[in-house]
Amino acid sequence: MPDSQNTPSNDVIETLLNRVSVRKYTDQPVSEEMLDTILKTAFRAPTSSNIQTYSVVVVRDQERRDALMAACGNQRHIGTAPVFLAFCADLTRIEDALVRNGHNIDSNNLETGLVSALDAGLVGMSAYLVADSLGLKGVMIGGARNKPVEVARILGLPPRVFCVFGMCLGWPGEAPAQKPRMDYDGLVHFEQYGKSRSGADATAIVDSYDGALAKHYRSQGRETTDASWSDDMDKKFSPPLRDDLRERLKELGFDFR
Ligand SMILES: Cc1cc2nc3c(=O)[nH]c(=O)nc-3n(C[C@H](O)[C@H](O)[C@H](O)COP(=O)(O)O)c2cc1C
Repeated sequence: MPDSQNTPSNDVIETLLNRVSVRKYTDQPVSEEMLDTILKTAFRAPTSSNIQTYSVVVVRDQERRDALMAACGNQRHIGTAPVFLAFCADLTRIEDALVRNGHNIDSNNLETGLVSALDAGLVGMSAYLVADSLGLKGVMIGGARNKPVEVARILGLPPRVFCVFGMCLGWPGEAPAQKPRMDYDGLVHFEQYGKSRSGADATAIVDSYDGALAKHYRSQGRETTDASWSDDMDKKFSPPLRDDLRERLKELGFDFR
């Protein structure tokens, strides 16, 4: 067992350990300098083969945020956050490099789509962490993939660019309690999958998490079932989720073959 006296701690660890999604913000603006610092720092994230296949669109304009709110499932926080960042997978520069060499990127495939989306995710999480460390709070917005073509239109994205996810940022206007996470033991395996420290199996982990999440939601006055997480996941994933996404992304120049 690890020695708890030797458990390290520092500011990065504390920032992540205390992190929580925040969806209400004060009117205090987020300065340009602060955003520049957040994004410049985030762009130091590792990037697959140095491809840097991401771009970020910074949206402050109220009308544009309202349009994004409508396109992302009417999530109120998109309209009320002072800043919305769109983290995009962007193949335009790779396309340019290929064209210069007499090739094209028409046959971009699942790997191209995955690495560019992964890179955007790494930059996004890095930005989120820096923002949080400066006292800004926010939430990521996967709802940006509800209507990817409409989101691309609102953001003026050229072909070969799509918004993988958005992020609302602002100064916190609420301090939500942290949602519990699944047991560490169930998420970490040693040498081979299935070899956790306690030997707990997936059913036991889900059962205990269902109970922990139900308790959390009820403490927040939210109605839920006893099998809170399992029932949420079933509701979300048993109907096909964003079933037309592949076709819509193809319209935007990503093949995902
Ligand atoms: C890629 C991604 C997309 C997300 N999309 C949304 C979203 O569209 N709307 C929202 O309110 N929260 C969204 N979230 C926030 C999650 O719901 C949240 O992280 C999760 O419930 C755990 O809560 P916590 O962040 O407070 O720990 C997203 C999170 C991630 C990582």
